[in-house]
Amino acid sequence: MRSAPAFGGLRPGAWRSEPSSSAVGCPKQREATKQRLSPCGRAAQPTYRAQSPGPLPLEFWSSAAVPLEEASTPPSSWYTSTAVQSLEQEHVFGKNWLYVGHQRQATSSGDFFTTEAGNVRLLVTRQSDGRLQAFHNVCRHRGAAVAHGSGYGAKHFQGSTSGWRYGLDGTLLENHRLQAVRGFQAAEHSLLPVHTTAWGPFIFVHLDRARHMPDVQERLGRAEPRMRDAGMLSPELQHVGTRSYHLSCNWKVFVDNYLDGGYHVPFAHPGLASALDMEGYWTELYETVSLQCSPLASQPAPDEWADLAAARTAGGHGPVYAFIYPNLMINRYGSSMDTNLVLPTGVSSCKVIFDWYTHHDQACNDDHVRGLIEGSEKVQEEDMGLCAEVQLGLSSPAYDVGRYVPAVEGPMFHFHQLLYDDLRRG
Ligand code: FES
Ligand SMILES: [Fe+2]
Repeated sequence: MRSAPAFGGLRPGAWRSEPSSSAVGCPKQREATKQRLSPCGRAAQPTYRAQSPGPLPLEFWSSAAVPLEEASTPPSSWYTSTAVQSLEQEHVFGKNWLYVGHQRQATSSGDFFTTEAGNVRLLVTRQSDGRLQAFHNVCRHRGAAVAHGSGYGAKHFQGSTSGWRYGLDGTLLENHRLQAVRGFQAAEHSLLPVHTTAWGPFIFVHLDRARHMPDVQERLGRAEPRMRDAGMLSPELQHVGTRSYHLSCNWKVFVDNYLDGGYHVPFAHPGLASALDMEGYWTELYETVSLQCSPLASQPAPDEWADLAAARTAGGHGPVYAFIYPNLMINRYGSSMDTNLVLPTGVSSCKVIFDWYTHHDQACNDDHVRGLIEGSEKVQEEDMGLCAEVQLGLSSPAYDVGRYVPAVEGPMFHFHQLLYDDLRRG
């Protein structure tokens, strides 16, 4: 089990801040102890091994263990270097539980979807015994994908170059041309499985099959019951939409923007800010999770934030924004929720996948769902422009490091510490 990082720069005390990315969230076709401040595995199979980037190219970050008030942000090279990107692939994405999708994407035997995590392509399946099982979506012949997109009720998967076929459980099926290959053992050429599990509606994978790691719930630590209490696992929520956004920035720029304690919200998202009581904003830091929470504003909310206004009228609590290291955000507000999955696609590009959920009573209300997604999308578009601006500045010779604003940017410092801990540990 990986130990929690030393929060050298984090001191107990109440922090006030504001939220960032948010959204208000029928498929007619289908369906914390609070800390203020803070396998189908087959024996003969080879294990997936990430490529080593060679000598560590990580530029020293002198602020990893100093108080937040004295810390500088990581060097800009962390956001512009392909060597750092390779390190992240191996030591961050290769060694943490990664969210890949939700259970509604694969409900019955043979249902599947494909996704990626950095340079790793994945195939997530529902097995005939009801288990979720993900594999590397890489054919053992010459490496082509064995599945694309998503589908239902598949009995097998097939490589696209020469038709190698795999059973739902990843086993390579009979192929008469392979009989002439000396010493060929089909059992040694199954699809490579990865650890797969679910926490509520959320599916997670772990790429490092050689390592024993705590399950997702344990990894979420004291934040797990806190997120549960906030309604993030509520069975009353129904998935109502998904959309992907392509951003011109390093994946960490988007995460940083989310974790600035709402610092940018009044400037970048005035509509959202007017629905929240920014003065009452607070953050909570846990082992691998940070929460940002806000009371609701007492004045009427703009139309696009009708869901928040309804929550206020009903005496509900304000939004809770959870960041689960390394790249998942869960935003719970009013009767709705959205998730944001941030995936690197290059040194200065990333993809963010949004999924929206709302209370099942509202899931077939087209106006409600449209308003939910449009409100969220407006915020996302504002953030995309902001993040692209930041990436340009990080690439400039005029910029090296910045400073944290202690009152609000604790969650960002927390993220950087977790990241540094992973990169340095290797
Ligand atoms: S790469 Fe799969 S059949 Fe050739
Ligand atoms: Fe934002």
